[in-house]
Amino acid sequence: MKIRRMRLDDIDAVAALEERSFEQPWSREMFYRDFTGNSRSRFYVAELHGRIVGYLGVWVQEYDIHITTIAVEEDYRRQGIATRLIRRLIGDQAGDGKDVTLEVRVSNRSAQALYEKLDFEITGRRRDYYSNNQEDALVMTYSAHSLEDSNRGRTRGT
Ligand code: COA
Repeated sequence: MKIRRMRLDDIDAVAALEERSFEQPWSREMFYRDFTGNSRSRFYVAELHGRIVGYLGVWVQEYDIHITTIAVEEDYRRQGIATRLIRRLIGDQAGDGKDVTLEVRVSNRSAQALYEKLDFEITGRRRDYYSNNQEDALVMTYSAHSLEDSNRGRTRGT
């Protein structure tokens, strides 16, 4: 399996996977507009035998990198694919000094478990964030300092 930057011709597969994965999915049009018209957006895909089995979208903002969407095909979950996508993102922005942030439904325990395992912490709560059921969102943040600290630790250890 390889993790790579998304290309325009991946959008149909990504939008279809989004549709299968979320209650309020982004449409293909939204992916297209974000990919082609938003200079701050960046997408990664996980490709296995020529098939897209996961993806991650972010906005590179002034003070943080915000995860807009992430999903893995159901049959391929619990194999570390989302972990690899997020690690790739964090690795790519090493040195930029920006935190990584996201919102997650309070009911989405599996996604929260993923982020906790990757050292994200709960840093806020947005009331009634999701319009389909007025569910709250937890804001979770990966501190760029975690990376600096782990790099420092590594340097000291060598
Ligand atoms: N239950 C409990 N813990 C879970 C979990 C689940 N269903 N899924 C992931 N985790 C935790 C575990 O600690 C796991 O490590 P382990 O398998 O060694 O126990 C760790 O996260 C890493 O999981 P990983 O295999 O990298 O995640 P994944 O590739 O299965 O993808 C999601 C995780 C959340 C992206 C996937 O379940 C998904 O696409 N869900 C639907 C879309 C979604 O909710 N996206 C998040 C929006 S905020």
